[in-house]
Amino acid sequence: MSIHINAKPGDFAKVVLMPGDPRRAEWIAKTFFKNYRLVNDVRGMTAYTGELEDGTPVSVFPSGMGIPSIGIYAHELYNEYGVELIIRVGTCGAYQEGIDLKDIIIGQGACCDTAILNSYNFQNATYSAIADYDALVSSVEAAKARGYRYHVGNMLSSNVFYNGDPNIWKKWAAMGVKGVEMEAYGLYWAAAEANKKALAICSVSDSFCFTKILSQMERQESLNNMIEVALQVVRDFNK
Ligand code: HPA
Repeated sequence: MSIHINAKPGDFAKVVLMPGDPRRAEWIAKTFFKNYRLVNDVRGMTAYTGELEDGTPVSVFPSGMGIPSIGIYAHELYNEYGVELIIRVGTCGAYQEGIDLKDIIIGQGACCDTAILNSYNFQNATYSAIADYDALVSSVEAAKARGYRYHVGNMLSSNVFYNGDPNIWKKWAAMGVKGVEMEAYGLYWAAAEANKKALAICSVSDSFCFTKILSQMERQESLNNMIEVALQVVRDFNK
């Protein structure tokens, strides 16, 4: 047991998928795992461990929302449970015209606007948070092989969903940042601290460049595609 997780040692696979929402974690286990079991329920953060169709062990653990939440769970999974790779599977808002709803953004790197940097006395320096290279390549190949629309690049992991400055996103967009979510930086940071691996893959649920919304069916299809990509990364890691 760790402070926020009541699983037993050995309850998690080496690779953990990490959606934000506990309901989505349950859906992932029910839809894509076999022989799965509940391994954590502290704070309603229902986590499952099971196997893929070919027997590859895999877990899913919800992160909750924001860098502090994902930071706690990633830290404990890496440091207390021997987890080697965490793959965030979330949604994001697109910052670029050429990125459509349902596209996948693979977070090569992440920026942040949060105080996490102040936890170390970096003296105005920053830490550039990046994905694990092998997992990144594996996700790109998986997306390409399946014919999914994908983009690889920088994300903003924002501390603020309802930003009081309606134009601030344009500055990030002008720097080439592809989209905004709220967790990737915290995950990459926790992985770096633990000398472990991380990757964030996000399906685009909204855009700052146009107003369009996804139907329920489109949303489901895009989540399915993202999970298929993440599961190929799990299989490649275990090869
Ligand atoms: N902002 C922050 N996080 C998000 C968004 C967004 O627009 N969409 C999905 N996650």
